[in-house]
Amino acid sequence: MLEAMRSAEVGDDVYGEDPTVNRLEELAAKKMGKESALLTTSGTQANLVSALSQTRRGEEVILEAEAHMYYYEVGAFSAVGGLIPRLVKGQRGVMTPQDIESALRPPNIHFPPTTLVCIENTHNRAGGTVWTPTQTKAVFDFAHERGLKVHMDGARIFNAAVAQDIDVRKLTQYVDTMMFCLSKGLSAPIGSLAVGDRDFIANARRYRKMLGGGMRQAGVIAAAGIIAIEKMVDRLKDDHANAQLLAKGLMSIEGISVDPAQVQTNIIVYDVSGLGIDGGRWIAKLNESGVKAGLLEGGRVRMVTHRGIEKDDIQYALGVAEKAAEETRKRKDS
Ligand SMILES: Cc1ncc(COP(=O)(O)O)c(C=O)c1O
Repeated sequence: MLEAMRSAEVGDDVYGEDPTVNRLEELAAKKMGKESALLTTSGTQANLVSALSQTRRGEEVILEAEAHMYYYEVGAFSAVGGLIPRLVKGQRGVMTPQDIESALRPPNIHFPPTTLVCIENTHNRAGGTVWTPTQTKAVFDFAHERGLKVHMDGARIFNAAVAQDIDVRKLTQYVDTMMFCLSKGLSAPIGSLAVGDRDFIANARRYRKMLGGGMRQAGVIAAAGIIAIEKMVDRLKDDHANAQLLAKGLMSIEGISVDPAQVQTNIIVYDVSGLGIDGGRWIAKLNESGVKAGLLEGGRVRMVTHRGIEKDDIQYALGVAEKAAEETRKRKDS
């Protein structure tokens, strides 16, 4: 990737003159089975330009209650886009048409009009859970019947495709617009893409500029992104296998609760409350030995497998977790 970045052919992407960015955007659109794509600085920016491009201030957007767009994107679609979130609780991140229907209100002078449904595949806070094509189609058909567009936060959409052993287009065909990340499992240092039809992307390009995301010789970023799409998708299955290994090992530690059958991709969410320790203190203990984890809330802890984390690292992390659990139990008993 570094070599490709160093030797990338570049131009001014604000004027659409960077050949490497153009190549990446064409590749991304083709992979996703859509007309057009736009390189953004991050997944957050791609989600934001996607929402802004399909809505107007004061409109309501349906999101799953634990959606990344709601939880972790600084409220951008409300703060910047003037959009109102309507949260719908799904099952492990997946909403059904019935879930969405229960949140829809009839047109009425008192209510903000609902115009967009956002889904997340894989679902981060639910633990990397996947939407199947059938589940995606059900929501897409229902949304279209009601005149709503569907946007997919597909930061890890290739993980969803690899986990189900299907072409990614089986998932993207049932959304109007989507974004995916070149960073994360695909291993590029920077960048995400918003993907959809030509009009949507033309609009998103304008919003990207407004948000300060117009970049000049961005080919240096795009060069890594092309390798991410062409060469890094297959390796995601290693991350999934390592996540299984980690989940199974954690399951065998007394006081930790996790169901490996629920670990579908590269994210492991487990609960340490059975050890009588809160998640923050648990994570600090792991950190002392160089193992990183993220806090969800209470005793819920999140770990992610990715490039550079090998089987030996998983065994090391499990050894650290075993020792930390033993110390915690001893302290509790004394
Ligand atoms: C599901 C999901 N969407 C969006 C994002 C945002 O991506 P970025 O960190 O590139 O802004 C993330 C990042 O973790 C994510 O997990």
